Amino acid sequence: MPACRTGAWLGCRPPFQMTSRSSAGMGELLMMQDWQMRYAENMRNYEGYSIGKLLSLINDPAIISLAGGLPSPEVFLQSEFRRATRERLDRDIDGIMQYSAVRGEAELIDAVVAFLIRDGIHAAPENIMVTTSGQQGLDLVGRLLLDPGDTVAVERPTFAGALAAFQMQRPAYLGIDLESDGLNIGELEEVLARCTTSGHMPKFIYVIPDFQNPSGVSMSLDKRSALLDLSERYHIPVVEDSPYRALRYRGAQLPSLFSLDQQQGGGRVIGVYTFSKLFCPGMRVGFNIGPPEVIDKMTNIKEGSTLNTPKYNQGMCAAFLTEVDLDAYFERCRAFYSKKMEVLLNALEANFPPERGIGWTQPEGGMFLWVSAPETVDTRKLFHEALKFKVAFVPGEAFYGERPEQHHMRVNFSYPSEAQLRDATGRLSDCLERQGV
Ligand SMILES: Cc1ncc(COP(=O)(O)O)c(C=O)c1O
Repeated sequence: MPACRTGAWLGCRPPFQMTSRSSAGMGELLMMQDWQMRYAENMRNYEGYSIGKLLSLINDPAIISLAGGLPSPEVFLQSEFRRATRERLDRDIDGIMQYSAVRGEAELIDAVVAFLIRDGIHAAPENIMVTTSGQQGLDLVGRLLLDPGDTVAVERPTFAGALAAFQMQRPAYLGIDLESDGLNIGELEEVLARCTTSGHMPKFIYVIPDFQNPSGVSMSLDKRSALLDLSERYHIPVVEDSPYRALRYRGAQLPSLFSLDQQQGGGRVIGVYTFSKLFCPGMRVGFNIGPPEVIDKMTNIKEGSTLNTPKYNQGMCAAFLTEVDLDAYFERCRAFYSKKMEVLLNALEANFPPERGIGWTQPEGGMFLWVSAPETVDTRKLFHEALKFKVAFVPGEAFYGERPEQHHMRVNFSYPSEAQLRDATGRLSDCLERQGV
């Protein structure tokens, strides 16, 4: 039943103010509701996902956008998708049009179990729940673990979408600097020791160890082990967000935190996965992995939000995992994206000699790199200047839980063409030159 029906609103006195004109239409009546005072406290000053707002400003088709985080449609498996759709509609249209299991379809969960084995993770079906994408996976984690005022330790910078998801619980953030090989473990250790003294420990540590969004940085093996040691020593769970693990273009693959933790007995890591970057974001399907009791609890929360993830979408992901030659497909994606990354890195090299004071990360995979300008440059202002040069990026400020820095930008290379990546870098260079950089 809706929480408040129109009739109930009409019965309300304050804060509903009736208009003096009896002919007022319903639209006008609704306008007079003082909604602001009805909002939940943590929503009053909430202005939404900052990146979404910026993206809406990029509406000129002449702009080359390095701002998004989209996979390229050039690697989408469109004919396989059509075939699997036809086959599944023929086989089970009744089921597809029906409600389905909240924790996820057994077919997909079994396929995920097999997918994880490829990555050294030995999970039982009870360790897995299907989510309506990675973003829901993060929301469930936040809702399960956080009370207002709790603290989360996050990388500086970190994924803005995770901050948006956790924001619903109004946590405070402890930002731990990101280095070229991942989280500054020494700093984390100091912070945790300080928290022990103050008695206010973070509820969990949120990290993206592989080709992090926004920086492209990966966590070294030593740091992965050290992080798990700290997690054990201080009894703080780790949330490992892994959308990009299969997209490594350079260097040797490193074990996930989840698999390393399993080798030590397990139980301290919750894994958040999505099919958005490996298959396609349009299906909005992902999965969380963790101890069965945690999965059960998150399933309870899902009952009150999306209930079940659409069966058709789950079926498409199951078909992706079981009917596609994943080795060959991931190899194709890696070759495709790795070329784009090299084009962008070369273009940066060519446009920004060291004396210009521009630096950037050297990712080993993923979809992003992090460009740092001299501290005098405010990339929020630069963003608007850059639009005049027909190029866009995301100002770095969006990616900080605390102590935001203004002189960085997130740059995406997965979606623009190679020619666009070259042109966009030239335009960014011209724009920065105009700023005296
Ligand atoms: C680190 C990280 N986590 C989670 C997500 C959310 O994924 P989804 O699009 O499946 O909601 C993204 C998407 O960009 C991401 O980069």
